[in-house]
Amino acid sequence: ERGGTFFATSLPDLDKVLHGGIPTATMTEIAGPAGCGKTQFSMTLSVLATLPVEDGGLGGGVVYIDTEGAFSAKRLLEIAQTRLPQQFQDDSSLKELASQVHIVSVQSCKNLMNRLQSIEEDLIQKKIKLMVLDSVASLVRKEYSNVQGGMMRRTDFLASEAALLKYIAETFSIPVIVTNQITTRYGQRAPVSSPHTPDDGDGSVEVDGEGSYLTAALGNTWSHSVNTRLILQYLAGDRRQILVAKSPVAPFTCFDFIITKKGVEQ
Ligand code: GTP
Repeated sequence: ERGGTFFATSLPDLDKVLHGGIPTATMTEIAGPAGCGKTQFSMTLSVLATLPVEDGGLGGGVVYIDTEGAFSAKRLLEIAQTRLPQQFQDDSSLKELASQVHIVSVQSCKNLMNRLQSIEEDLIQKKIKLMVLDSVASLVRKEYSNVQGGMMRRTDFLASEAALLKYIAETFSIPVIVTNQITTRYGQRAPVSSPHTPDDGDGSVEVDGEGSYLTAALGNTWSHSVNTRLILQYLAGDRRQILVAKSPVAPFTCFDFIITKKGVEQ
């Protein structure tokens, strides 16, 4: 389907179950509670995307849309320095890598839509092979909560945003990755198996009969627009878990991972 190419995440078990990695030309959501590693994961993928195709990368630039000021250039370099093969470690290669990751800061939903609507030229000129939106949730939560008719307007906004992101993914045949912060009634350190938690459309997580998280928040319209959904969560100690909650190819599965100098690692 649609070229059927994949972008390896460097988490071997995850890549295996996803038939090679994150699919290009579609939208992938990385959801999870605050501080669980969504930004770290996205920055790791940004480093990998700049690598040549023969080295497992996408051989191009990255547009990293940052709505929370969470991106750190210093951290990006640390991940690159600790992870990349020797031939990419000299100053000019690292400089080149950093210059290929284009940070776009947006402060409002309107700002975001304007940027997305006029981004095509940039994607071509800068040979963009990966787009990250970190995060999809913060702006809409800020702008549409506690206002009259907010939920309906939010649904409309998310529908247009999702359509635009999908259009970009398909037209340029690139993976579009969006992060989404979700909370659960059980606080930040939600266990894998917790009692049924209905999706209230705004931040809670649905749990199926088996006690596994399947549906992330922002309501059904958004949820259905996402082709692949990965949910991060805390385990005991430093360990974290990644769940493949939705995928056209993979069954529901989960793997452990950790966050280190190298970014995310199995
Ligand atoms: P929100 O944006 O708050 O929703 O969180 P997030 O899911 O994006 O979390 P993020 O990716 O920012 O992960 C934060 C966690 O990553 C921290 O609690 C640290 O454990 C870890 N982390 C962040 N920076 C570093 C770093 O430079 N080195 C290492 N080893 N770990 C880091």
